[in-house]
Amino acid sequence: MSANAPTARRDPGYLGLTDAVETLPASYYFDPAHYQRELKQIWHRNWIYVCRSSAIEEPRSYRTLQLGEQSVLVVRGEDGVARAFHNTCRHRGAALCRTNEGRFSSAGIVCPYHSWRYSLRGDLVQTSSVQTGDGFDRRDYPLYSLPLTEWQGFVFTALTNDPPPFAKAFDLPLSRFDDYQLGELAVGHTLKKTIKCNWKVFWENYNECLHCPGVHPKLAQLVPIFGRALLERRDDPSWQDHAADQDPKYAGGLRSGARSWTMDGKPVGVLFPRVSEEDRRAGHLYLTSVPSVFIVTHVDYVRVVRLLPLGPELTEMSIEFLFLPETLAEPGRDISSAVEFTNIVMSEDAEICEVNQRGLHALAHDKGVLMPEEYAIRQFQDWVKGELSRS
Ligand code: FES
Ligand SMILES: [Fe+2]
Repeated sequence: MSANAPTARRDPGYLGLTDAVETLPASYYFDPAHYQRELKQIWHRNWIYVCRSSAIEEPRSYRTLQLGEQSVLVVRGEDGVARAFHNTCRHRGAALCRTNEGRFSSAGIVCPYHSWRYSLRGDLVQTSSVQTGDGFDRRDYPLYSLPLTEWQGFVFTALTNDPPPFAKAFDLPLSRFDDYQLGELAVGHTLKKTIKCNWKVFWENYNECLHCPGVHPKLAQLVPIFGRALLERRDDPSWQDHAADQDPKYAGGLRSGARSWTMDGKPVGVLFPRVSEEDRRAGHLYLTSVPSVFIVTHVDYVRVVRLLPLGPELTEMSIEFLFLPETLAEPGRDISSAVEFTNIVMSEDAEICEVNQRGLHALAHDKGVLMPEEYAIRQFQDWVKGELSRS
C-alpha cells in the first residue's frame, strides 16, 4: 500500500512523477556487453559534439574523436568546409592520423602505412604502387565519409549516414539561443576530468536536483530553488501556494544580487548585449543534446560540457568556457571566478557519480526507484530504452 495519503495534494501543472517508477537495470551501468550495445545503438547513431570550429579553423587542420573502437577524423578543407571521415585508409585499413590534432601538409591526407594520398575532400589522389591492377579505379576508394554539421561554432558529427535531423538532437529550438552570439564566442578556458562512472550515471545526475542541497552547498546558495532540491517552480506539488511569488526560492533564478555562475555571483566577462531581461533574471539557460553534450548560457559566459564514454565504467568530461572575444582581449580581465565555481560544482558531481557507480554493483541491487523530483531521469531512461529497441 502506498504511504501517501490517497488525497496527497498535487496542484494542476505539477511536473513531478506521480508513480514510483523503476530505474534501468543495474547491469546496464557496468555490463561490458550491454555497454557495447549502447555504443552501437546510441553513440553510433546520434549527433556527437566534436569541438569548436575554432579548433579546426585553419584549412588542413584536423581533430580526431575516439568513440569506443571508432575513430572519426574532422578536417577543414582548403575551401573552408569542414568534413568528417572514418579515420581509416581504404587500402588495408590503417588509421590515418596517429595524433588527435594537427594540420596536414599541402599534400593532403597521407596514410602512414603505404602512403596512399587523399584530398581533404576524401578523394584518393595517389597510391604508391608503380602500377595498379586491372580493374582498380581510384574513384572507387574515397575515404569513408560521415555527416558533419557546424552550428554556431560547434562541430558535430555522427557515425552513421542516417542521423536524426540535426535540430531534433536538442531539447530546445536552436533559435532560442540566437541572442547569445554562440558562433562568435571564443574559448577562454578548458577543463577535463575522467569520471569512474557509466555515462548514464552522469546524465541521470544532470537530470535531477534532489542531490543539490547535500552535494552542492555553494550552488544551492547561488540558485535558491536548487537549495530546495527542485529544478523549477512546478516541481513542488504545492507550487500554487507561491504561484506568483518572485522570490528566487520559488521562481528559480539566481539569489538576489547575483548575476552569473561565479564565486561571488558577479559576472567576469563582458555581458552578451542582446540577451533578454527574462534570461538575465534566470541566470542560466540549458541546451541539451544527449548523449554527448550540454551547453549552459549565463549573462557573460557559456559553458560547454562534452561527455565521451571511455568504457562501461569510465567517462570523460571536457568543459569549454566561451566568452565574447572582447572579454578575452581585455587586459586584466580575470575569468577565474567562473572557472573556479564550475570546477567546484562539476567536481562535486563527478565525485557523487563515482559514489553512485560503486554502489550499483551490489549483488542484491537489480534496480532502483525514481522519486517524484526525478521526472527528467524518467524521460532520459525512456529515451535510452527507446534507442535500445530501435531496429
Ligand atoms: S593501409 Fe593506408 S596506404 Fe596501406
Ligand atoms: Fe549536481
